[in-house]
Amino acid sequence: MTGAPPAPLEQARQWVRQARRIAVLTGAGVSAESGVPTFRDVQVGLWANFRAEDLATPEAFRAHPQRVWDWYAARRAQLAQVQPNAGHVALAEFQRRHPGRLTLITQNVDGLHQKAGSMGVLALHGNLSENRWLDPCLKTGLYGQTVRSCDPAQAVPGHPPHCAECHNLVRPDVVWFGEMLPEDVLAAAHHAASACELMLVAGTSGMVYPAAGLAHLARQSGARVVVLNPEPTDLDETAHVRLTGTSAQWLPLLLAD
Ligand code: OAD
Repeated sequence: MTGAPPAPLEQARQWVRQARRIAVLTGAGVSAESGVPTFRDVQVGLWANFRAEDLATPEAFRAHPQRVWDWYAARRAQLAQVQPNAGHVALAEFQRRHPGRLTLITQNVDGLHQKAGSMGVLALHGNLSENRWLDPCLKTGLYGQTVRSCDPAQAVPGHPPHCAECHNLVRPDVVWFGEMLPEDVLAAAHHAASACELMLVAGTSGMVYPAAGLAHLARQSGARVVVLNPEPTDLDETAHVRLTGTSAQWLPLLLAD
């Protein structure tokens, strides 16, 4: 005779223990308990006082570079004060205890997974702490970093900094509306999603593609999918198990040995 099926947490913990390859997809919700507002929280969300198209598009930056640069500078200053929470830490510690088993894919640009010590983070939407050129460098055809003289860090300081020779502008290395995701990062995320045996989806509304498509890809490829969120999400139907609650609450329990 078999007993009752395990409760959702116990079931998910069993899958964590069994899976040789785990992929985790995170969104703004995993940083909520660090004090970073999410996108779709209309009252206090990141876009509460702004229209995204006025700030987070290449067109907005070309039209009003100083305004957009200064807004991002303010966000950077806010994030510098923010610390990872128990959810970020649980993920980083699991990676440290189990090298190579967990691939972390995030839509967040806040750098908190990296600050918690996570390794090899696939930052689908870029990193707010990093810069790149707005247009490919005239000398190298690249967006910076490989040739010292073409490194955005060497740009003439300003709002935004610029190239002394061609006046190319420095911009934050985040994905803006209407832009493609970094190809290499997305390819690595596709690989992780299709090769994993378990995918944890934490703190994302699942409304934004291609990121949300990774959960579908994992499921279609035969992985178990666990969605962890205090609210219903667009990915709930993809989940084998749903854990209702916050990531700082669930991730430490789920990922403990
Ligand atoms: P959203 O703001 O769409 O969703 C945040 C999710 O976090 C919601 O489902 C909340 O219920 C959940 N949440 C809130 N507090 C939580 C907590 N303490 N623990 C766990 N979950 C919690 O943010 P994302 O799904 O990340 O893209 O949004 C995806 C993308 O949309 C962003 O990366 C951004 C935006 O357009 C770009 O900037 C390119």
